[in-house]
Amino acid sequence: MTDPTNANQALPRHIAIIMDGNGRWAKSRGKPRHAGHRAGVKATRNIVEAVSDLNIPALTLFAFSSENWSRPAEEVSSLMSLFLEVMQREVNVLHRKNVRIRFVGARKQLSARLQRKLAEAEAKTAANTHMELALAVAYGGRWDIVEATRRVCAKVQNGELDAAAIDEHAFARETSLAGMPPLDLLIRTGGERRISNFLLWDMAYAELYFTDALWPQFDQSELQAALDFYAGRQRRFGRTGDQVSEPVA
Ligand code: IPE
Ligand code: IPE
Ligand code: MG
Repeated sequence: MTDPTNANQALPRHIAIIMDGNGRWAKSRGKPRHAGHRAGVKATRNIVEAVSDLNIPALTLFAFSSENWSRPAEEVSSLMSLFLEVMQREVNVLHRKNVRIRFVGARKQLSARLQRKLAEAEAKTAANTHMELALAVAYGGRWDIVEATRRVCAKVQNGELDAAAIDEHAFARETSLAGMPPLDLLIRTGGERRISNFLLWDMAYAELYFTDALWPQFDQSELQAALDFYAGRQRRFGRTGDQVSEPVA
């Protein structure tokens, strides 16, 4: 059947990517690590465009983790300058593409200048509707859960929420990705098979795709391979295969 509705069901509505392998990509070419991060920005731009062209409504990118603060100061500061530079250059492009931007992470840990840029980008693109792009900077999955807990507690304390009414929905509303479609597909490049403290709450039923491609090498055909993997999964959500398989027409 070539029913476009069926075709759409095989596409994820929300993809998250752990963009790993910039350093190794640079090293294998005898270049400094920051050259790898610059090459990573190019890959990021291409993938954002490809995902937007596929009309996938949500994309979350892991750019800098809570743990990445432990890298050498020089690498951290070159990454922060790169974020600022990329923001300055790309926000208007994304805005023209009708992309809404949200930042997730401990933004108070970032420089005042970067915080201001992030807030401006969010404000500028707030009414955009084609795709939502969440950029995880200074982000940790555990941090996210703790922050959500803090907000739930504040609501209970000020009488907005009854403690007995706290359920998964009430909790999810306070997490960083609240309001985005459920996470369908998590991609990690760079060969490691681990989560590295990314979206712990949101990945409960995500399909997990790992590739050895280093992030600067992740192009449209790599994306297509991840989408093909996704399309081949039977998502049972606890039910049996018979319960979820399509009745034969
Ligand atoms: C991912 O690439 C980018 C960030 C974590 C900022 P890495 O910098 O981790 O690259 P590898 O893993 O060292 O190759
Ligand atoms: C995960 O990559 C974080 C990002 C891609 C931003 P890392 O390179 O920091 O993860 P580990 O250290 O291999 O777990
Ligand atoms: Mg890495």
